Amino acid sequence: MARIHAAAFVQDRSWSAEEIADLLASPLITAFHETGGFALTRLIAGEAELLTIAVDPAHQKQGIGRRLMERWIASSADTAFLEVAADNVPAIALYQSLGFEQIGVRHRYYLRKDAAAVDALTLSKDLTRGHSRDSAP
Ligand SMILES: CC(C)(COP(=O)(O)OP(=O)(O)OC[C@H]1O[C@@H](n2cnc3c(N)ncnc32)[C@H](O)[C@@H]1OP(=O)(O)O)[C@@H](O)C(=O)NCCC(=O)NCCS
Repeated sequence: MARIHAAAFVQDRSWSAEEIADLLASPLITAFHETGGFALTRLIAGEAELLTIAVDPAHQKQGIGRRLMERWIASSADTAFLEVAADNVPAIALYQSLGFEQIGVRHRYYLRKDAAAVDALTLSKDLTRGHSRDSAP
C-alpha cells in the first residue's frame, strides 16, 4: 500500500508503511483492495470517512478507483465524507459522478512540495438513500 500511495501521490507527502500499519491496527479502519489500488476508510457512529484512495498510475483509468469507492459506499453507514484538493480533477470527477456534493472548504489546506498551498474541498454523500433516519420502521 505504501508503494502504491507513493506512486499515486506525487505532489503530496506519501504515507509510510508504518503509518499505514498503525491505521490498520485500529478496529475503526477498513481497507478496500483491488489489484493496483486501495482505499482506507474510517467508520465512527455511522459516519464514514475516506482517509485515502490511491491507484497506481500504471493501473489508473481502468475502473479500479470507482470500484473501490462503490464498495466503500455500499458498506453500512449513514453519511460518507471525504476531503479532496481543489485541483485534483480526476478525483473530483470520480466523487461527483458517485453523487458526492461539496459541503465546505479549507483554504490553503494542502501544502505542496514546490507550489502554493491548495484548498481542500469537503464532500459528503447521504447514504440513507432517501429514507429518513427517524421514520418508523
Ligand atoms: C483518483 C483516482 C483514485 C481514480 O482512480 P482510477 O482507477 O484511475 O479511476 P477510474 O478508472 O475508476 O475512473 C473513475 C472516474 O474518475 C474520473 N477520472 C479518472 N481519471 C480521470 C482523469 N485523468 N481526468 C478526469 N477524470 C478522471 C472519471 O470521472 C472516471 O469515470 P469515467 O471512467 O466514467 O469517465 C486515481 O486517479 C488516483 O489514485 N489519483 C492519485 C491519488 C489521489 O488523488 N487520490 C484521491 C485523493 S482525495
